Amino acid sequence: MDGDGAGLPTIAVVGGSGALGRGLALRFATAGIKVLIGSRDATRAQSAAAEVLASGGAGVEAYDNAAAARLADLIIVSVPFAAQTDTLAQIRDAARGKIVVDTTVPLVPPRVMRVQLPPEGSAARRAQNLLGPETRVVSAFQNIAAAHLADPRHPLEGDVLVSGDDAEARETVVRLAGTIGLRAWQAGCLDNAVVAEALTSVLIFVNKRYGFDGAGIRLCGVRSGQS
Ligand SMILES: NC(=O)c1ccc[n+]([C@@H]2O[C@H](COP(=O)([O-])OP(=O)(O)OC[C@H]3O[C@@H](n4cnc5c(N)ncnc54)[C@H](OP(=O)(O)O)[C@@H]3O)[C@@H](O)[C@H]2O)c1
Repeated sequence: MDGDGAGLPTIAVVGGSGALGRGLALRFATAGIKVLIGSRDATRAQSAAAEVLASGGAGVEAYDNAAAARLADLIIVSVPFAAQTDTLAQIRDAARGKIVVDTTVPLVPPRVMRVQLPPEGSAARRAQNLLGPETRVVSAFQNIAAAHLADPRHPLEGDVLVSGDDAEARETVVRLAGTIGLRAWQAGCLDNAVVAEALTSVLIFVNKRYGFDGAGIRLCGVRSGQS
């Protein structure tokens, strides 16, 4: 991974026109990582890229989802659960041999405060099934609210649980999250993604019940600087 010649990957954010994807694009671009924003629509991708540039991110380009995935070293997929299957079909070929970071929470509106898991067990497992064994799917960022990512001056304090069947790919994503100031933890095999995915419905409930805008999680019982 040497997208910038300094060991950092070029990242595609598929669905980067949306709330979470745009926020991640902004944070990674602000951290000096080259980001390719993907969308089904060129105008939406360009407008998201322009917004990231205006907010202080550099090195952002706009593409359709498949082109962004093809040109990137590592792909983040940030689309609603209902759009996951179609979106992964668009990038399947381009993703072969790469790490795909799946952020999907299997929310089924209108009951988004209720945990509803897909038959595969998790959205991440579904992603791995759809992309095939040559792609290393890593699950992350389900418990980071887009609202916190939108302002690059706002420090990030939530922890990120990173699940995947390939330990090296998990560690790559842990380190990547670290570049934007997120404390991330390897959380075991891909099927463990069910925990982070299900937690999001709990966090949405907590937000509503207590009037928060982006509750997250933080591990306790760990020494500082140990991540
Ligand atoms: N928002 C959060 O705070 C947050 C936090 C943690 C995890 N997540 C998870 O991250 C994922 C993205 O969340 P989000 O809030 O960013 O979603 P979003 O803003 O609703 O959508 C993201 C992008 O997905 C594409 N998209 C939307 N509907 C689609 C459809 N029917 N078919 C194909 N593409 C579609 C759109 O891109 P184009 O139209 O440009 O193609 C859209 O900009 C979700 O799975 C969510 O559960 C979100």
